[in-house]
Amino acid sequence: MKERMVKEQTWTVQGKWVLITGATSGIGLAAAKALAAREAHIGIVARNPVKAQDAIAQIREAAAGQQIAVDLFLADMSSQSSIRHAAADIWARWPRIDVLVNNAGAMYVQRKLTDDGQEMTWAVNHLGPYLLTTLLLDRLKESGQARIITTASHGHKMARKGIRFEDPTAQRLYSFPQALLGGANFRYGETKLANILFTAELAKRLEGTGVSAYSFDPGLVATNFNQDNGLLARMTMAVMRRFSRTPEKGAETLVWLAESADVGGISGAYYADMQERTPAPQARDANAARQLWEVSEAQTRNSAM
Ligand SMILES: NC(=O)c1ccc[n+]([C@@H]2O[C@H](COP(=O)([O-])OP(=O)(O)OC[C@H]3O[C@@H](n4cnc5c(N)ncnc54)[C@H](OP(=O)(O)O)[C@@H]3O)[C@@H](O)[C@H]2O)c1
Repeated sequence: MKERMVKEQTWTVQGKWVLITGATSGIGLAAAKALAAREAHIGIVARNPVKAQDAIAQIREAAAGQQIAVDLFLADMSSQSSIRHAAADIWARWPRIDVLVNNAGAMYVQRKLTDDGQEMTWAVNHLGPYLLTTLLLDRLKESGQARIITTASHGHKMARKGIRFEDPTAQRLYSFPQALLGGANFRYGETKLANILFTAELAKRLEGTGVSAYSFDPGLVATNFNQDNGLLARMTMAVMRRFSRTPEKGAETLVWLAESADVGGISGAYYADMQERTPAPQARDANAARQLWEVSEAQTRNSAM
C-alpha cells in the first residue's frame, strides 16, 4: 500500500495511453483535446468514421505538434459484436492502456432493441461500457496502475426505485402510461445509476490489481446530447443550454480523474466538480451492484465477434 501511494504521487498523464469512447463531440471531445494537450496518447472509439476523422484532426491540433499517437478504433457501442471487434483491434494495435474512459452515451425517447435484443439506451450507456471494459481488463492490469473512468450523471437520481431488473428491456417504462410520464428519462436514469453501481462493483473486483475505477457527474453540459429525439427534445435542450456548462467545463472532472495524483489510491467512488460526492442511496446498494454485474455478464455472454 505504501509503495503504491509513493508511485501514485509520481502519476502524470503525459506519455500515458488513454482510450476514450464518445470523443466525436461534447464532453468526450473536450476531454480528449485537453488530455492530448497534456501529451497523452489518445485512442478514440467511435462509430462514425467521418466524424471520427474530424475529431482526430481537432485532437491533433490540440496536441500542437507534440509526438503523440492519435488513433481510431471503430465501434458502435450498441452492438456487442462491434465492441468485440474493436477490443480485438485495440489488443492488436495498442501497446498498453493506462486510462480507459467510458463516456459515450445517448438517450432514446422511442423504445428500440439492438441486434442483441437489448434496449438501446441500456445497450449504449451500460452494456457497451461493461463489455468493452471486461474485454480490455487484462490489458489494463498489465499496465500496472491503470484507471477506468465512466461518465455517469446526476440523472441517476431519477431512478428512485433502482434498476428494474425484472423488466430488462424496459417494456413498461416505454408503454402507456409510463411513457407519457417520462419513461425514457427514467430509463436513462437507470443507465446512469448502472454506471455508478458498475464502477463500485468493478473497484471491488479489481482490489489488489493496481487498477482503479471512478465515475463522475459532468453537470449540465451544452453538447449534442438528446438532439436526435425530435423537435420537442431539441427545444428542451435549447432552453437548458442557457443553464449549461461548456463541454470544456463538463470535461474538467474527467480530465482531473485521469491526471490527478490525488485520486490514485481511491477506487469505486463517484465525483463531481473534482470532489468525491455521495450518490443517491440506490447508487450505494452493494447487492444491486453485484446483481447488475451478474445480469450484465448474462446479457453479453452469448454475443459473437
Ligand atoms: N450533456 C449533459 O448535460 C450530460 C450530463 C450528465 C451526463 N452526461 C453524459 O455525458 C456523456 C457524453 O455525452 P455528451 O453530453 O458529451 O453528448 P454528445 O455530444 O451527444 O456526445 C455523445 C458521444 O457518444 C457517442 N455515441 C453515442 N451513441 C453511440 C454509439 N452507439 N456508438 C458509439 N458512440 C456513440 C457519440 O457519437 P456520435 O458523434 O457518433 O453520435 C458522441 O461522441 C454521456 O454518457 C452522457 O450520458 C451528459
